[in-house]
Amino acid sequence: MKVTVVGTGYVGLVTGACLAQVGNQVLCVDVDADKVARLQTGDVPIHEPDLPAMVQEGIAGGRLRFTTEVAEGITHGDFLFIAVGTPPDEDGSADLRHVLAVAGDIGRHLQRPVTVINKSTVPVGTAQKVRARIAAVLQDRAADIVFDVVSNPEFLKEGAAVADFMKPDRIIIGVDNVAAAERMRVLYAPFNRNHDRLIIMDPPSAELTKYAANVMLATKISLMNELAGLAERMGADIEQVRRGIGADPRIGYAFIYPGCGYGGSCFPKDVRALEYSARQYDFDAPLLAAVEKVNDRQKGLLEQKVVRALGEDLTGKTIAVWGLAFKPNTDDMREAPSRVLMEALWRRGAQVQAYDPVAMEEARRIYGGEPALRLCSDPYMACEGAEALVICTEWQQFRSPDFVRMRSLLRQPLIVDGRNIYDPAVVRAEGFAYHAIGRP
Ligand code: UDX
Repeated sequence: MKVTVVGTGYVGLVTGACLAQVGNQVLCVDVDADKVARLQTGDVPIHEPDLPAMVQEGIAGGRLRFTTEVAEGITHGDFLFIAVGTPPDEDGSADLRHVLAVAGDIGRHLQRPVTVINKSTVPVGTAQKVRARIAAVLQDRAADIVFDVVSNPEFLKEGAAVADFMKPDRIIIGVDNVAAAERMRVLYAPFNRNHDRLIIMDPPSAELTKYAANVMLATKISLMNELAGLAERMGADIEQVRRGIGADPRIGYAFIYPGCGYGGSCFPKDVRALEYSARQYDFDAPLLAAVEKVNDRQKGLLEQKVVRALGEDLTGKTIAVWGLAFKPNTDDMREAPSRVLMEALWRRGAQVQAYDPVAMEEARRIYGGEPALRLCSDPYMACEGAEALVICTEWQQFRSPDFVRMRSLLRQPLIVDGRNIYDPAVVRAEGFAYHAIGRP
């Protein structure tokens, strides 16, 4: 089948590469000429396991191509994916400018029937807006050219995006007619084996499903973080509580890890966007606001713990930070707790020595000019001469470090652990003061 994907960000690139992997002819379109040039040579600009190999295989096999020509893309595909960004506006609402611009392009260049598929995370009602925009631009040609607009939100996790696409736990198809639903079933057949994972519904429900999933998960985390705060004050250990509640299958063990707050490109943005949508409908959604508020407070917790141990004024003091990415296996630092911590430490006059296994380049891009940041090429170098070590991301390589070496490098044997990766008894036996989240 011929597939066009407009937008080669996270979602678009993974979608294009995976659809090419199963044999489709995929053309990816992006306005960023530098990015397209890099992608044409198989150079993948994001850190995502298995993605470079898949992109290179697709290119070599002639199934995956990249272009900056949107007209060429729209002429190519029977399926046109819209996977451009929906960055939040000041007020938290999703900015649909790019999505609707692509809809306009489709209207201008469309010559035959197509299935337009919206993969970007968009507010409820966007499929309808996309349909209207295409029809408005098509004008009198609209009578001859039939097109469908399908809402098909993505549920991929950074760091596991390829695996999530190839083996999805569900494929949400928001569609208003049976014929389009059947075409989507055929397109997704290679990923829909063993048992049926297609869930077909109307477009607004599909659009809300995406927000509902992310908001549900964000709520689990914020509730755990709130309970962690209580546990700390009550002398209870949230890690024991976590095991205790997770054993109930109605609660489950997944996504109940307390920590220094959720980050990334989805949870913070989608919670805010849904909150904004609620206001648009004049509907009070106190839970959404609370989820966000708890997360903001949580991101400030590491700074508070450092201050409690070292005092308000950190002038001339150095703090080591392990983990800059918002979670392991990605170089993404969007809304990362590490950023809130480092910026707070700088305001208090501290120097930061930071290490991350893959996000160093990203850190350089964001904070390149920051004189109070020293990026270290290994985790021990970051500890050298520091008053404390703060852990922001639970990378595997931090789990069993050389504590003896760390103690000799740090000026004070102090660890503030934002991800509860150590057994407090073990770290204390190694001679450290250890402050974790929600643990006595
Ligand atoms: C998320 C959703 O999982 C995915 O389905 C959706 O399509 C996009 O948003 P992602 O942002 O890549 O994916 O990361 P995820 O692994 O879900 O983690 C989000 C954040 O929550 C991270 O900052 C992580 O550290 C935090 N988290 C996760 C916790 O603090 N505790 C947990 O128990 C789980």
